[in-house]
Amino acid sequence: MRIAVFVSGGGTNLQAIIDAAESGKFSAEIALVLSSKPDAYALERAKEHNIPAVYLSSKEFSSRDDFLNAMFDVLEAHAIDFIALAGYMKKVPPEIVQRFKNRITNIHPALLPAFGGKGMYGMRVHRAVIEYGCKVTGVTVHLVDDQYDHGAIVAQQCVPVSDHDTPETLAERVLAIEHLLYPKVLEWFAQEKVIVSGNSVMILS
Ligand code: GRF
Repeated sequence: MRIAVFVSGGGTNLQAIIDAAESGKFSAEIALVLSSKPDAYALERAKEHNIPAVYLSSKEFSSRDDFLNAMFDVLEAHAIDFIALAGYMKKVPPEIVQRFKNRITNIHPALLPAFGGKGMYGMRVHRAVIEYGCKVTGVTVHLVDDQYDHGAIVAQQCVPVSDHDTPETLAERVLAIEHLLYPKVLEWFAQEKVIVSGNSVMILS
């Protein structure tokens, strides 16, 4: 499986996937890192590990079609057959979602369908969880469809919320779980253990 990791920021999840790949216990290849931001630190991480890294933003194109074609071209040039969003702040164009049906995942720092959707990212998620008084939050890896944080859920892991948590302390613990869960889920896909039927996802043991 040749993965493209889509990023917009620091890329600690990308780093966790790179580390898994370099540990030798990962059957997929990280064949491309695509960033929607030119100065994303994730691009540096990719370069340090000799992974092809590109900046691709609709802002640089005069039409949507040109942007879309550029995205298809770069994915094809690197023979990508799976896309992992890891802190990618843009919506994936529906044409790409269609072409990579059930082959695009996203990671979200809460237990979807709670605390997700447009505008629910970064510290806002953890602040909302604490303000609501939740005793538990977590991490979700889901398939990507045409809505934010919406496709079928592939895996979730809980993280307890303590009375003393701030959004920052909670974010740190949730992120540590993300780094364990995402490489594991990608490995399931690489080993063809993920069976998708409508909105239900089964993992073969
Ligand atoms: C993570 O919390 C992820 O769940 C969310 O965006 C954040 C990305 O962090 N989608 P990083 O860039 O991987 O450090």
